[in-house]
Amino acid sequence: MTNEQPSFLDVLLETHIGLERQGPGSPQAVRQALGFLGPLDRLRQAADLGCGTGGQTMLLAEYLPGTITGLDMFPAFIDVLNQKARSKHLENRVHGIAGKMEDLPFAKKSLDLIWSEGAIDNIGFREGLAHWHDFLKPGGFVAVTCPSWLSKERPAIVERFWSDAGSRLDSIETDTEILQDCGYRFIAAFALPETCWTDQYYYPREAAIRALEKKYPQSDMMKAYTEQNRYEVELYLQYKQHYGYVFYIAQAI
Ligand SMILES: C[S@@+](CC[C@H](N)C(=O)[O-])C[C@H]1O[C@@H](n2cnc3c(N)ncnc32)[C@H](O)[C@@H]1O
Repeated sequence: MTNEQPSFLDVLLETHIGLERQGPGSPQAVRQALGFLGPLDRLRQAADLGCGTGGQTMLLAEYLPGTITGLDMFPAFIDVLNQKARSKHLENRVHGIAGKMEDLPFAKKSLDLIWSEGAIDNIGFREGLAHWHDFLKPGGFVAVTCPSWLSKERPAIVERFWSDAGSRLDSIETDTEILQDCGYRFIAAFALPETCWTDQYYYPREAAIRALEKKYPQSDMMKAYTEQNRYEVELYLQYKQHYGYVFYIAQAI
C-alpha cells in the first residue's frame, strides 16, 4: 500500500506489464492466422508492430524460422520482450525495439511478414497499411487485428466509446476495400471469439487492477481507471454481437 498518486500512464503500464497479452487475442487465433500464409519457412524477416510485452511475438518465434523484430512505443514493454527472448535463448532471432508504428525503422522492401495485434487502429487502419506496404517485399504478408463492426446495426454508445479512445470501427467489407486500396491482395478475415476478450484479456486484467487498487487505495486516478475499465468490459458484454476484433490477412502486391 502507498500514498503515492500514480499518473494514468503509471497505472496503465503497471496493469499490463505482467500480463501475457495487452489486448484481445489468443494462441489459437495466432495459429489460425498463420494457417493462411502458406509455407512458413519462406517468412524469414518478420516484424510484430505494437507487440506489447511480446506474448504473440514469442509464439510466432515457435513457427517462423528467421528473425522477428517486436516494436512498441513503450520501452518498458520492450524490456520484458527482450527478457523473454533471452530466457528462451532466442535473442539471436527475437529482438524488441522501442519505436513508432507510423515511422518504421526498417529498410524498404525488407520484410516477409508484418504482424500486428490490437494496435493498428491507434494510427488508423488505412494510414498504417499504407505506411507498412513500403517495408514489405512484393508478396510479403500482413496479418493484423483491428476492431470492426460485426453487424449492420451500429449502436451510438459503442461508436462513442471507440471514438473517445481515438479509434474508429469499419465493417469487414470496408476494411477489405481499404486493404485493396493500399496495395494488398485480400486473403482472409475472421472475427476473434469472445474468449479472446474475456479469458485471454479482461479476466487477467481485472486481477491486475484489483492488485493495484490495494496498492493505491488513496488514488482518485486509480478509482477513475478502475471505473473506466469496468465500463469497457460491460459495454463489450452487452454489445459483443455488434463489434469485435477481426484478424485481416493480406499480401502485398
Ligand atoms: C492493445 S495493445 C496490444 C499488444 C499486443 N500486440 C497484444 O495483442 O497483446 C496495443 C499496443 O500498441 C502499442 N502502441 C500504440 N500505439 C503505438 C504506436 N504509435 N507505435 C508503437 N506502438 C504503439 C501500445 O504501446 C500497446 O503495447
